[in-house]
Amino acid sequence: MDRIRIQGPCRLQGTVRASGAKNAVLPELAATLLLEGPVTLRNVPVVRDVQTMIKVLRHLGVRSLKLEGNSLSAEGGAAGDPEAPYDLVRTMRASILVLGPLLARLGRAKVSLPGGCAIGARPIDYHIEALRRMGADVSIEHGYVVASCARLKGAEIVFDDRTVTGTENVMMAATLAEGRTVLKNCALEPEVVDLARFLNACGARIDGAGTGRIVVEGVPRLRGTAHTVIPDRIETGTFLMAAAATRSGITIERCDPSHLDSVLDKLQECGVVLRRGPDSITVEPDGALRAANVTTRPYPDFPTDLQAQFMALAARAEGVSIVTETVFENRFMHVGELRRMGARIVEDGQTAIVAGPSPLLGAQVMASDLRASACLIVAGLAAAGETTIHRAYHIDRGYEKVETKFQGLGARIERIS
Ligand code: EPZ
Repeated sequence: MDRIRIQGPCRLQGTVRASGAKNAVLPELAATLLLEGPVTLRNVPVVRDVQTMIKVLRHLGVRSLKLEGNSLSAEGGAAGDPEAPYDLVRTMRASILVLGPLLARLGRAKVSLPGGCAIGARPIDYHIEALRRMGADVSIEHGYVVASCARLKGAEIVFDDRTVTGTENVMMAATLAEGRTVLKNCALEPEVVDLARFLNACGARIDGAGTGRIVVEGVPRLRGTAHTVIPDRIETGTFLMAAAATRSGITIERCDPSHLDSVLDKLQECGVVLRRGPDSITVEPDGALRAANVTTRPYPDFPTDLQAQFMALAARAEGVSIVTETVFENRFMHVGELRRMGARIVEDGQTAIVAGPSPLLGAQVMASDLRASACLIVAGLAAAGETTIHRAYHIDRGYEKVETKFQGLGARIERIS
């Protein structure tokens, strides 16, 4: 199993380019099941979750699917047996995003129920409840979500909590439903907005994406188009945390600063000096690094997907930071590993109290999930000595060429296969 080895402490410098957003391209790939004709997605990150989704789509009959560089082309449309098997879904929960499109396009779907994951139980009851309100028969049989309907009907859907993939799944299903669907208390994430932008370019009629109320007028069919995926704000945020934690000066280009307001504001509160360009962010070197409190919440608040990376930064900051996780119930798996590197952290339920600055020391550590592994890279770059991160496969799920990108910034980082 691959490991990542870092010789720290590192001073980063230069420029790095953000990749396309994993959490935007996954629903956009699932949306190709809805389409007729050729479709092209550009700025696609070549990460393992994308390759898994491609396998799922091939299994569901999407033809001529080709990923060349960062461009994907295909002949849209589901065909054949609409079953997304356990072997594929168990490696990536986001496979559930094929449920809405299959039901809308073929009137039936069988998708393996995603189990729990390291960061929480992560049920999909909101997805199922919404599809039932649109007239689908949905049951759980032998570990599968089995759904069918003659044709989905528009309905009013009010989500109990803001759910990102729930909003995306139902929004996709509603594009081919009969009549109007109104989604309330839906997610506001930029990835939801990008999916709506893509679907509207395919002929859908979606209004209000990015607000808490989305209205979808169903249409008879959708045709393929060409679409460029937005930059990955979480990857961008990870580079920012790495630069701040190592007091380095770097520029991230081809990103979208407007998707990171809460994160940039928090970093400035910590004393990090940064400049926002139209599609770039520059961090000045040698900035002060003061403690700050963070509470994760749905967009536009501070993202849960940057909580772990922020904790590595907080371990190096002057003072006490209080980090509260409100989105997932088990997202402190990285705390024990940071402690192994010398961080001083006390956990109290959904809150972690981080006292800094601690002189982090390189160690053998274990990645437990995607963002925890990114946290350990940030800590390894700031730590004195050698850090080896085991189960590096977690990072490959969502970061494109991570060690190459950090090497380009001058880090002594390598992969041990
Ligand atoms: C998306 O997951 C992202 N994944 C996650 O990124 C991200 O952490 C999360 O949104 C929150 O921002 C993708 O976009 C592929 P939710 P999702 O539904 O949609 C509860 C990463 O690292 N809930 O918004 O699964 C749920 O348990 C990943 O890239 C229900 O109770 O998250 C959670 O507590 C990790 N029932 C809360 O809502 C439901 O039916 C928000 O989850 C759905 C959700």
